Amino acid sequence: MNKDVIIACDFASKSEVLDFLGKFTEEKPFVKIGMELFYAEGPDIVKEIKQRGHSIFLDLKLHDIPNTVKKAMAVLSRLDVDLCNLHAGGTIPMMEAAIEGLTRPDGTRPLLIAVTQLTSTSQERMTNDLLIEKPIDEVVMHYAQNAKKAGLDGIVCSPLEAGKVHELCGSDFLTVTPGIRFDSASAGDQVRITTPAQAKQIGSDYIVVGRPITAAEDPVAAYRTCVKDFLG
Ligand code: C5P
Repeated sequence: MNKDVIIACDFASKSEVLDFLGKFTEEKPFVKIGMELFYAEGPDIVKEIKQRGHSIFLDLKLHDIPNTVKKAMAVLSRLDVDLCNLHAGGTIPMMEAAIEGLTRPDGTRPLLIAVTQLTSTSQERMTNDLLIEKPIDEVVMHYAQNAKKAGLDGIVCSPLEAGKVHELCGSDFLTVTPGIRFDSASAGDQVRITTPAQAKQIGSDYIVVGRPITAAEDPVAAYRTCVKDFLG
């Protein structure tokens, strides 16, 4: 299994993201394209970045009835992304339908991972708004197991949960982990953070790093530090 650093390219336009990627002359980082950029620029931005030689995590977090998700995934599979995702809250039939849709006629498909509970959802909100009374950690692990049962390749989770997820779902089940910072002083809006070196130690497969690279004075140097600390 390939471990890697994924840069969250949270930009609002094609020109900003291409300017940013243009700084990388010696390497082709794995790139995450989220809703902001995708809704602004459409599928063409995915094709363009792919053509430039980057692997792509398309982070659109699908959640709808199984038939709709299946058809949407069939469209996404033609964009030739490497990794995409959905909400495990759509339940096992939706996740199974997603895999069906994503699988190309030749049997290949992008990797598919699930978001369990968003890290912005607190225990209080889950209990009061969603009427889910179990502890949030238990819910996350249960959703991870549902994703595994449905045949998905892994989940998005906190690096702090990666070890437990591997214990429950197997070492091959991918843990893709945002919430990475070089030090606690720069946490910003992320609450439960780890450094790239800690994420490596706990066993994350892919770390997703946004602002510590995109907002750095020297993004290429920041990326190289991440790669050295996480993969080295
Ligand atoms: O800038 P920063 O490193 O916080 O970016 C993290 C990226 O990971 C963002 O694109 C954010 O939307 C995404 N993400 C996250 N937490 C999750 C799921 C996705 O931070 N639970």
